[in-house]
Amino acid sequence: ITLGEIVGLPDFEEAARRKLSAKAWAYMSAGATDMYTLDLNRSSFNKILFRPRVLVDVDKVDSSTVMLGQPTSMPIFLSPTGMAGLAHPDGEKLLTAAAGECEAIYMISTNASDPLQDIVNARQSRTQPLFMQLYVDRNRPKSEALIHKINDLGLKAIFVTVDAAAPGKREADERSLAEIEASQAGEIPGVSGGKMARDRKGGGIARAKGGFIDPTLNWNDIAWLRRHTNLPIGLKGVQSVEDCVKAVEMGVEAIYLSNHGGRALDGSEPALYTLLELRKHRPDVFDKVEVYLDGGVRRGTDVIKAICLGAKGVGLGRPILYSMTYGKDGIVHALESEGLRYPSVGADVAVLRDEIHTTMKLLGVTRLDQLGPHLVRLIREPD
Ligand code: FNR
Repeated sequence: ITLGEIVGLPDFEEAARRKLSAKAWAYMSAGATDMYTLDLNRSSFNKILFRPRVLVDVDKVDSSTVMLGQPTSMPIFLSPTGMAGLAHPDGEKLLTAAAGECEAIYMISTNASDPLQDIVNARQSRTQPLFMQLYVDRNRPKSEALIHKINDLGLKAIFVTVDAAAPGKREADERSLAEIEASQAGEIPGVSGGKMARDRKGGGIARAKGGFIDPTLNWNDIAWLRRHTNLPIGLKGVQSVEDCVKAVEMGVEAIYLSNHGGRALDGSEPALYTLLELRKHRPDVFDKVEVYLDGGVRRGTDVIKAICLGAKGVGLGRPILYSMTYGKDGIVHALESEGLRYPSVGADVAVLRDEIHTTMKLLGVTRLDQLGPHLVRLIREPD
């Protein structure tokens, strides 16, 4: 499959399945146990339908927005994904460069394959905003050193992942007896500095990389984090209205609804359902913090549905990793279409920015602030 033949993000998945090693594919595509939540993440978007408005001049649309004070060309960002080096040797450096080119925000994972300084150096300009995802280390001083580095390197926000108190049980990953190839084992310190080692349960890159995460992390630790940074703080992996309310009480700046791409607790609900419940029962939360979500977002229509329901931005994990198998051009192609033409048709091909703009036009809006719950309806209450 050539890049020119790729017209939608699902095409990248098929291409990546063919291109990646079995081990890398297992790590990236895996969901927890029966992958019920993984499937629901995708299908949840089909529960929402649009109520378009017609006869609106939509000649010019603008999908730009601001996330935690940082301007971006569209309401999406690159979710943090560990070990991007498995998808392309240039790993996170490539993600930074491509995000910069598309004026999109990239959230760097604590489990990145490259050292943080190198990733930051790959920015397209000194002002390119980057966010950071934080896994808190059992060895607290180590996390404190990382936070200070995040402050010093000029990153713009810290999102603490709170849905990974234990490694998810991803059987495909474990079955692949994933050990990083001997050539890489233990030699890529990455951001977390965690060594690659199989734990007592055997395989799995996820288990091997996750052992350092502190299971004692709790609400009191937000004050700890606040003592070490002035950056906006977000919580990634919130999965209930109750915890959203608690997060607001604790004074965080952002809530990132996520079930870790169906990789943590199988049977947990899609972020889109949590968003619906929040809108219904605690709409005041949207005035107090910025709400983000990810999980199963594959289409511009998915993005716009989430924005209509109150999300400030929407993250993509796997699709971006899959697009990386084509290098930087692949990621840029996934995010926007400008300059890339479908050879046989001679027209701009998708992908995301194009789909977002098309959705806005067909919905009868020209700016994101015109989106709202009035433009969608629920087919039926989620089960
Ligand atoms: C992840 N995710 C993740 N989350 C996080 O907070 N820190 C991390 O290091 C990782 N690593 C990671 C690796 C891989 C290979 C995947 C697929 C996912 C979860 C990620 O941020 C995001 O929540 C999901 O990927 C979103 O779902 P989709 O877009 O993949 O369906």
